[in-house]
Amino acid sequence: MIRVLSVASEIAPLVKTGGLADVTGALPGALEGAGVQMRSLVPGYPAVMAALAAPEAVHRFEDLFGGPAVVLAGRAAGLDVLVLDAPHLYARPGNPYLGPDGRDWPDNPERFAALSWAGAHLGAHGAGGWQPQVLHGHDWQAGFMTEYLPRMGGAAPRSVLTIHNIAFTGATDSGRMHALRLDPARFHSDGYEFWGAISALKAGLMGADALTTVSPRYAEELMTPDFGMGLDGVMRHRQGDLTGILNGIDDAVWDPATDPEITRFRDPAGKAAARAALRAELGLPEAAGPLCVIVSRMTHQKGLDLVLEVLPTLLEAGGQLAVLGSGDPGLEQAFRHTAQDPNVAVRIGYDEGLSHRLIAGGDAILVPSRFEPCGLTQMYGLRYGTIPVVALTGGLADTVINASPAAMARGVATGIQFAPVTATALRGALIRLAALFAEPRLWTRMQVNAMAHPVGWSQSADAYAALYGRLIQGR
Ligand code: ADP
Ligand code: GLC
Repeated sequence: MIRVLSVASEIAPLVKTGGLADVTGALPGALEGAGVQMRSLVPGYPAVMAALAAPEAVHRFEDLFGGPAVVLAGRAAGLDVLVLDAPHLYARPGNPYLGPDGRDWPDNPERFAALSWAGAHLGAHGAGGWQPQVLHGHDWQAGFMTEYLPRMGGAAPRSVLTIHNIAFTGATDSGRMHALRLDPARFHSDGYEFWGAISALKAGLMGADALTTVSPRYAEELMTPDFGMGLDGVMRHRQGDLTGILNGIDDAVWDPATDPEITRFRDPAGKAAARAALRAELGLPEAAGPLCVIVSRMTHQKGLDLVLEVLPTLLEAGGQLAVLGSGDPGLEQAFRHTAQDPNVAVRIGYDEGLSHRLIAGGDAILVPSRFEPCGLTQMYGLRYGTIPVVALTGGLADTVINASPAAMARGVATGIQFAPVTATALRGALIRLAALFAEPRLWTRMQVNAMAHPVGWSQSADAYAALYGRLIQGR
């Protein structure tokens, strides 16, 4: 077995704000069958502390960025975790990143530098006799691990950094160097310096032995100025060490045949009952056109403003819209407003159960993201025969087979892709959607294809295991 320590700021089901948690929560289980033993280091947020069973202290820090801390080994929600219990950093209510005022905690750089410090320490010295061979960090919150690792003494594990979203660079003012325990001599363009500031992500991108991102298409996009967010030069520099490995979804949790949240089904015909139940729950009438659903964070990335623009086209075609999401207050308000139309239903908030019922009951799922490193909801859609209508970008490009004339002629399409990411192109996609929906034979064929498309973890787990193996052998 290859021993890997995963280091991330979220892990489902313990703490989740987005797909990152789904991935870090699913990987340990997925990798088990691929010869990898993965343990996960996670901050001791209140929800994590509450879920931790039979904890055993495996390391103590006298002073970890302003207070004492303990690493506790134990099990939580079926996961093998190492919890960084540092009350001065993590014993706070709510979201892992935001205070009650909805703003980032001012000490977020230190809070996640501490996570990285602990990760580096465990990488060098192990935990209770367990010594990882690879440190696998996720996003900027784990970025400083490779800065700290050489200062820890002990073993020198290999390192991987996975980019889930390059838009979050973990940047902060250069005056923070000392507080973040960074070596001033490494404040340069080959180190953690980023346009005159400090960036935790940049540090990891320069320091990790291997870089991955969550789809092959996003790996290519990252090397371009349009997607690299100022780090495209770094990505080009590290191109030889960068691989795109598609995320999977948890196909036990997302299985229309066993899902406890829904009226279950095994084939497209069975979806009718789930759709009727969804309409009843949301107070939507019967309709001639497709019932489109959205489950999403409401941010600029997700392109939901485009949906607001083209909604009249969908409604004129006899379609309907059901939305679940939260985030940007302006978008929330705008969507609430659209719900005045009897064919639109909007729920602002976070609701796992409703997310399953929407994806089961919808005819189509809309994901018009401006960029999307991988995206999970389009894969949930595929599994439930809910046709994805997606922007041609990132993982949305890699997981959906567009209903092009060629794909339709071969009978292999699973969804609809549009480009560029504009209201005009999305409008065109919805017109294509309504036309396909009106042709039951073609529509059912697409649904059958979608439901048969592999969206689980097995291939990607093998790809991660192979990467770890190469890194270990390569030394
Ligand atoms: P991102 O991580 O960028 O938000 P992903 O598609 O990778 O995008 O992952 C989003 C995850 O969060 C999915 O599991 C999705 O179902 C879930 N999700 C997003 N918004 C909500 C919500 N309002 N209620 C329930 N689940 C949500
Ligand atoms: C990020 C990305 C999303 C991806 C998720 C998990 O949140 O925005 O596209 O699916 O990470 O990798």
